[in-house]
Amino acid sequence: MANRSASPPVHASIGLLLREHARLRRLLEPVLAVEATVGDGAQSTPLASLRLLARAVTRLQSFLSAHARKEEEGLFPPIDAEEGREGGPTTNLRAAHVHMEMMLKSILQETEALRTTPDAVMRLRLKVHVHQLSQLLPEHMEEEERIVFLIARHRLPPAVLKEALARMRGTAASQT
Ligand SMILES: [Fe+2]
Ligand SMILES: [Fe+2]
Repeated sequence: MANRSASPPVHASIGLLLREHARLRRLLEPVLAVEATVGDGAQSTPLASLRLLARAVTRLQSFLSAHARKEEEGLFPPIDAEEGREGGPTTNLRAAHVHMEMMLKSILQETEALRTTPDAVMRLRLKVHVHQLSQLLPEHMEEEERIVFLIARHRLPPAVLKEALARMRGTAASQT
């Protein structure tokens, strides 16, 4: 007799997004490690730290932007069709994508500004933004895993998930 309480298997489309979440968590680590070397006192920040920070943030930014597009163009449309877009579960997630993109741009601008002009206020702003991002990104991914991926697994038919995966792969291909 079939076990009715068993969860449906993880479809390849969700598996792909989960692997990307793991990669995003790994990409956040060097951002935090380098940020910790950026002092918050009156001393100037070593240029090497700022260069490393810019590199780590750029890597995270580019991977996150491609990932968010896969979600918005691949997975979210069938979730919206099921749950409704206005006020539905993807509303907050789309807003968080925009918010994180703005935050990453600010971090890069602040890092760039500090390379030419040591400024304690700018340094503090940079540290606050990195700290906010380090909370927002993991919370965002947990929310997706807890709500949207779960809805996808339990409510979307395999054929719909297959189409979502094809759109995600199309999205990835159009970015290269
Ligand atoms: Fe997302
Ligand atoms: Fe995600």
